Amino acid sequence: MKITKLMFPLIVVMLATVACTPNKKAPKALVLYYSLTSNTQVVAQEIATRLEADIEPIIALTPYDTAYNATIARSLAEREQGITPEIKPLQANLDDYDLIFIGYPVWFGTYAPPVITFLTNTDLSGKRIVPFCTFGSGGLESSVAHMAEQQPQAQILPGYGVRAARLSAVPHEVDQFLKASGFINGDYVKLPDFSVQTPVSEDDAAIFDAAVDGYRMIHAEAKTVASRAIPGGMEYLFTAVNLPRDAQAAPASPSEMQVYVTVLEGESPVFTKVVR
Ligand SMILES: Cc1cc2nc3c(=O)[nH]c(=O)nc-3n(C[C@H](O)[C@H](O)[C@H](O)COP(=O)(O)O)c2cc1C
Repeated sequence: MKITKLMFPLIVVMLATVACTPNKKAPKALVLYYSLTSNTQVVAQEIATRLEADIEPIIALTPYDTAYNATIARSLAEREQGITPEIKPLQANLDDYDLIFIGYPVWFGTYAPPVITFLTNTDLSGKRIVPFCTFGSGGLESSVAHMAEQQPQAQILPGYGVRAARLSAVPHEVDQFLKASGFINGDYVKLPDFSVQTPVSEDDAAIFDAAVDGYRMIHAEAKTVASRAIPGGMEYLFTAVNLPRDAQAAPASPSEMQVYVTVLEGESPVFTKVVR
């Protein structure tokens, strides 16, 4: 076909239409979370705000006591009986979302029971799921493995976890996590790989001991370490083994753990998570 002068305005209009067609709006994400003492809620709100996502709490019909010992007692009794708590029906219609963030505190190495109930009663087949959690020492990896077992047809994407004692790091870490995962645009720091593990020196052992000092759930000895540079300091990945609690006690199980420690310039060593 010969393009005549008369056709130019038509071509210009057609091109403009292609260029101006608004991008199909990205499907909205949903942030679902359970939180008893509001640590996980802090992370949930940060994620929802950054993504402009809808957000909804998972609520136990009979709330857990916020007193730690009472919650441990109820939770252990429920585990023994093989029951999980009833939860309120969600207001959100999950059919409207293809990307769902699921947040929880780690309890006994996995997600807190209201989330077990939710994942038992809900089919998330075909959905993209991003787990996130808060914990005393760790549990992202073990809880995500549990989630993959409970929802084999869902696509469980890499998650984010943070110690309850490090909530001040949440705004920066969530920002980096969402950018690195491609959920929002922007620059993020891609960290180098860790060096190979080598036996700990006295200095390394001192860093490890300072990082876990005072945390009663970790009584361990560092055996090997790897490291890498991070903005403002160094990150260490220790392998460590349990120590007996006191001289009279039976030897502790020789179970190995990995402990991540950061040392920022001018600051004391802090452990960021334990993987058992
Ligand atoms: C019953 C119970 C069990 C817990 N189990 C673990 C655990 O296995 N590992 C861990 O690192 N933290 C554990 N924690 C600590 C919580 O994960 C941590 O305090 C979390 O930040 C609480 O989140 P929330 O404020 O959103 O409820 C446990 C806490 C409770 C109450």
